[in-house]
Amino acid sequence: MKIKNLLILLLIPLFFTACNKDKNNPGYAYMGNQDMYYTKFYKAYSPNPLLPNGMTNQAEPLGSVARGKMPFPYPGSNIGEKAVNQSLAGLELTNPIPVTADNLAEGKEAFRIFCSDCHGITGKGDGHLYTSKLFPAKPTSLVENYVKTKPDGEIYYVITYGSISGLMGPHGAMIPSEDRWKIVNYVRELAK
Ligand code: HEC
Repeated sequence: MKIKNLLILLLIPLFFTACNKDKNNPGYAYMGNQDMYYTKFYKAYSPNPLLPNGMTNQAEPLGSVARGKMPFPYPGSNIGEKAVNQSLAGLELTNPIPVTADNLAEGKEAFRIFCSDCHGITGKGDGHLYTSKLFPAKPTSLVENYVKTKPDGEIYYVITYGSISGLMGPHGAMIPSEDRWKIVNYVRELAK
């Protein structure tokens, strides 16, 4: 009888040691060594023994295009690349966004947000950043022949990488490709 009580007394602390204060490591688990219990997963930048090149992050399959992205194989990271590729993009690309009332309305809104501060709400190059002298370089008028005669692809290129001189900065990272084309349509509309 006494031995039994002693045994129970000894078991009580053992019972409580099974609880672990560390929430990330809750002690022992039934079938804990099975993947079912603690699922194995790999973080984006961790090495990965299961994949051919040993990396978790895989490059996109050749020829695939991410949703919402349009291929744009015209680099523009320096003046030299811009000088060549701006006109090339103008020659080779056609605007994939049809001119509809909805698309024009969206182009107008994107233009107001991303362009009008410099180029002005009517595109004449008289945005408040320039007229208030906060931005020193004269923004090109978008409604005169110089831009009017540029092909759509060139304007798209300028929005993406900025002007060749770099006085206008690149907007490719902040405006999704579809919206950039919608802006091009709207610039055409402004120049009518
Ligand atoms: C921070 C001011 C600023 C913003 C914002 C801006 N631009 Fe410009 N943009 C300029 C300036 C300045 C020039 C003249 C640059 C030069 O001569 O190199 C210019 C030039 C241009 C040109 C002529 C490029 C060429 O080949 O000569 C186009 C087209 C243009 N901008 C379109 C746009 C559109 C569309 C947007 C909105 C997506 C926009 N810009 C946003 C300042 C701006």
